[in-house]
Amino acid sequence: MSVHGEVKRVTTHTLAEMKEAGEKIAMLTAYDFTMARILDRSGVDVLLVGDSASNVMAGHETTLPITLDQMIYHASSVVRAVQRALVVVDLPFGSYQGNSKEALQSTIRIMKEAGAHAVKLEGGREVVESVVRILTAGVPVMGHLGLTPQSIYKFGTYSVRAREEQEAERLLEDAVALQEAGCFGLVLEKIPSKLAQKVASTLSIPVIGIGAGSGVDGQVLVMHDMLGLNSEFSPRFLRRYLQLDGLVTEAVQAYIRDVRSGDFPSPAEQY
Ligand code: KIV
Repeated sequence: MSVHGEVKRVTTHTLAEMKEAGEKIAMLTAYDFTMARILDRSGVDVLLVGDSASNVMAGHETTLPITLDQMIYHASSVVRAVQRALVVVDLPFGSYQGNSKEALQSTIRIMKEAGAHAVKLEGGREVVESVVRILTAGVPVMGHLGLTPQSIYKFGTYSVRAREEQEAERLLEDAVALQEAGCFGLVLEKIPSKLAQKVASTLSIPVIGIGAGSGVDGQVLVMHDMLGLNSEFSPRFLRRYLQLDGLVTEAVQAYIRDVRSGDFPSPAEQY
């Protein structure tokens, strides 16, 4: 809270200060108004409108099908809910790769139409030109290295990346290149914790991990996974804070029983 009782917004500067002070950053994904409001009021620092919406909201097998229009729809719902958290939005597959002008145009649409605060894109040196161009419009950019799901058909599997020395060295160089290009932060997904720690201690910008161990500056999880809405997905890095799929099933079954038995609505629940 500020002295005037207003909620103090998290900015990219807040995150830089948190890294400096050794305070860990808590980031979660969000895709809709109602959940984003709960997460924001709970005090999460960063809300990522991830292209994982393609999986958890739309049921696609990969993140590739989600469109820029669909990302803008999710992002605008989240932005309307948020008073404190920094809202970062993923540039979806096909909206930036290989074309920095298109990267800037896609970013401008996300900023104008959704009211987002920053964008995230996947890749290393190959996206540096796009990062620099987006920054010319004054939009903060977050990088994403390691397991980058938009490249799943190149990798062939969702297993841990950069176990081999050559890929690890390349990842560290890419991380430095993204920082030098001006990224305000970096997500590292599913890489060995020792490598993630090395990246976090080499860079001055905040490094947020998912499946990247504890030696980084913060953590991100997909909201549906950490709330246990998706019991089929059980990677080693995931901690479930609820088993919401079971609780929702029990609640819905109780509702069905009550409707069928005539118990709902009771006299007090009608006009
Ligand atoms: O789309 C997403 O949810 C992400 C996180 C896994 C970091 O990029």
